[in-house]
Formats: sequence, C-alpha cells, structure tokens
Amino acid sequence: MDNPTDLEKIKKYLIEKLEVASKPEDLVLIKSEFLGKKGYLGKMLVDMGKIPVEQRKEYGTQINILKKEIEEQINSYGNKLKEKLGTPQYEDLYKSLPGKKLKTGHLNIITQAIDEIVKVFVPLGFTRVRYPEIEREYFAFEALNMPETHPARDEWETFFIDEPADEKLGRLVITPHTSSGQIREMQKGNLPIRMLNISRCGRRQIDLTHVPSFYQFEGLVIDENINISHLIGVLDYFAKSFFGPDRKTRLRPYHFRFTEPSFEVDIDCGFCHGKGCKLCKSGWLELGGAGMVHPNVLKAGGVDSNKYTGFAFGWGVERTYMMKSGTKIDDIRHLFSNDLRFLEQF
Ligand code: FA5
Repeated sequence: MDNPTDLEKIKKYLIEKLEVASKPEDLVLIKSEFLGKKGYLGKMLVDMGKIPVEQRKEYGTQINILKKEIEEQINSYGNKLKEKLGTPQYEDLYKSLPGKKLKTGHLNIITQAIDEIVKVFVPLGFTRVRYPEIEREYFAFEALNMPETHPARDEWETFFIDEPADEKLGRLVITPHTSSGQIREMQKGNLPIRMLNISRCGRRQIDLTHVPSFYQFEGLVIDENINISHLIGVLDYFAKSFFGPDRKTRLRPYHFRFTEPSFEVDIDCGFCHGKGCKLCKSGWLELGGAGMVHPNVLKAGGVDSNKYTGFAFGWGVERTYMMKSGTKIDDIRHLFSNDLRFLEQF
C-alpha cells in the first residue's frame, strides 16, 4: 500500500500486518510504519495543507481518532503476542543491547603472597614441594625429636582427627606445621636438599595474630659443610628481597626440639614502623622459627649426620605478608573474612 488515503484502508492494512506479527520487533516496525514521522499518519499530516480550509478541522479530528485506534490495536496485539510467547527467549531479547561486562576477580592475597615468596627462593636453588595437610603424629612430632609425652607438643595446639591411630605412626592430625615435610623430604633419599614446602596448617588458636587455619613456608637445606652463616645469609636475602632493603630483622635465641641452635626471627613492625602498636606491642613481630637441623632429626630422615649438616626455617605466610611495607593489615583475621571491601584493595 504505497499511498493510502482512505482511513478504512489504513485500518484494514494495519490489522493485516498485526496478524502476521510474530515477535516484539515486528510490532516496533509496525509502530514506526504507521505512527512514525515518515509513516502513514505523518504523511497525512503533511497532506493537511492540501485540504480545503473548511474541511481541515474535521480532517484533523479524524487523524486523531485514527492515531488512537492504531495505538490501541498495536497495544492489544502486543499483549496477545506477549501471552503467546510467554517468558521471552534469549533470542527474542534485544540483540542490539551491549553485553553485560562480567566482573573479573583477582588471585586471593594469600596466593599472591605465596607466589612472591616462591619467586624469591627459586633463584637460590630451592624447589617447591607439597606434603600432606592431614599428617601422622610421627612426622609432625616424634621424628622431629618430640616424643609422645614431651611438653613441647602443647605449643602446637593440635587438631586431632577422630580416626584409629596407626600402630607405628600414631594418630592423624591436621598438620600443625610444615616441619613435618622435613622428614618426608629426607626419606626420599635425594641429597643434597633445597626444599621449600608450603602448606596449610591448623592449630586451635584465634586472635589478632593467630587463626586456626593458616599457611607456613618451610625451607630445608641439607648438604656437606652447611653452617649457621648460610642460614643467616638466606634469611637476610629473603627479608631484603621481600620487605625491602630498609627493613630490619633480628634473630632471638629460642628452643625448638628439632633444631639446635634455634632462633625466632622477628621483623620491625610494618604497621607502626617499629614504634609499638596493638598488633606487635613491642615494635617487632615474630615471623617464624629457624635453626640448624638437630642430628636426631637427620637420623630419623635416614641422613648420615656425620657427613651432612643442614638448616631449616618455618614462617607464617600471612604474618609475612602482613609485615610487607604498605599493606597496613592490623588483624590477621581480615585475610579470611571474605569481605570484598577489604579484598578489593589488593
Ligand atoms: C614452628 O611452627 C616451627 N615448625 C618453625 C620452625 C621451622 C622452626 C624450622 C625451626 C626450624 P612456630 O610455632 O613459632 O614454629 O610457628 C612459626 C610461624 O608460623 C609463626 O611465627 C607464625 O608466623 C606462624 N603461625 C604459627 N601459628 C599460627 C597461627 N595460629 N596463625 C597464623 N600464623 C601462625
């Protein structure tokens, strides 16, 4: 219908078109064809000038009535179509709308910290290994020179698993520290050793600096002629690489049953810059333990203690990350709170 002039013809043509409309987009096109500026009604308005003056008022009224009827018909067919189609199918949605951008996350900060730690040790010849997070008491304690009744075991505030004990290896525990990997690594019998064992550990503790489930990274070096200066050199190299050349570390004599001599390693608090705050109290925060591997431990691992010596260190990943310059984390529990407002900062 190129040039409809008869109002009845237009209405008839509209109904014909509406009857074959099968999707919402068809209705949009029909609306534009009939009511748009360049549509039939638009043309009729343009033609108004050609109508004798005395007939113009009536002509205008007719156009308004027609417009209303067209709108009503389109709406009524639209509703019928909606009912027929039910819930819009994916293909029926407006294809021209831009897609929704999916939110992308990032690696958890503990994973980021582990990656950074690994990057410091690998160039020194350390190989990353993983040992069971559910462990037997023997590997966690006995083989580390802590016999069953030794009070030092209390410090590890261990989670025991309710399963029958193995006659030789004892009960099942959630690994209380990565040192249990020392014996498993030695028992492989591949010397020399430069091991970096990173694992989740568990202890019955919770406060500003303790959580029940945390990560430790454990270094173990065993070779001929290894002495304490190698240990200090590696720890100093790590501290300077990870925290920056200006940060200070200190070794405090300590008693671990599996190293002799033993130390605790502290770093000046990155939160208060060594002044003392609610997190560190003294200006220093303990990162972990270290020492020269005890001969009894070498023996338990099947290593000849007359030929080989070694050092080991075990630090908390979360505490280490918290002490990194600029992170300003004053409570270890934030790291596990799953609060996006916190996590999105990193
Ligand atoms: C040990 O676990 C020794 N196995 C470390 C070691 C390895 C000493 C090798 C000598 C040679 P300690 O219990 O102090 O030591 O824990 C080491 C570090 O793990 C702590 O300094 C802290 O950084 C982290 N850590 C321990 N318990 C928790 C906890 N509940 N939450 C968060 N971090 C913890």
